[in-house]
Amino acid sequence: MAIIWTSDLYTGIAAIDQQHQQIVDYINQLEEIIGARQHHRVGPLLDKLVAYTFEHFAFEENLLEDAGYRFAKPHKVVHAIFAERIAGYRLRCNAGEDIAEPLHRMLIRWLNFHIKRDDMAYVNALKAWGGEGLLLSSFGRTVK
Ligand SMILES: [Fe+2]
Ligand SMILES: [Fe+2]
Repeated sequence: MAIIWTSDLYTGIAAIDQQHQQIVDYINQLEEIIGARQHHRVGPLLDKLVAYTFEHFAFEENLLEDAGYRFAKPHKVVHAIFAERIAGYRLRCNAGEDIAEPLHRMLIRWLNFHIKRDDMAYVNALKAWGGEGLLLSSFGRTVK
């Protein structure tokens, strides 16, 4: 079950949506790896996904702080909890455990839940602060 990018994942903030789509793309790549039974590719993909996701977190956290978003700190904590969780998967993967499927399920659940609940919660505050300029801003990085 691939994550299909659905309209309820759109925050309407271009740079953020672009980054979220890239993360979804990585999750879909993980599904391909599982389908192709190429589990040796899981570790390297996980590294790319983690690096990119952390970049996204930093981008989002800076924006929330600049905007004076009142839940900027708790949002950061939620990101940090995810970082710990994913580090646990990396360790298990390093130890030779096949984590592809549980990792895939966790990522789908986490991303859906986080975007729809936590990220959506800051959208109005960010838009009120950043206006059009924010909508047009671009992080603009494509990774493969
Ligand atoms: Fe977030
Ligand atoms: Fe996000």
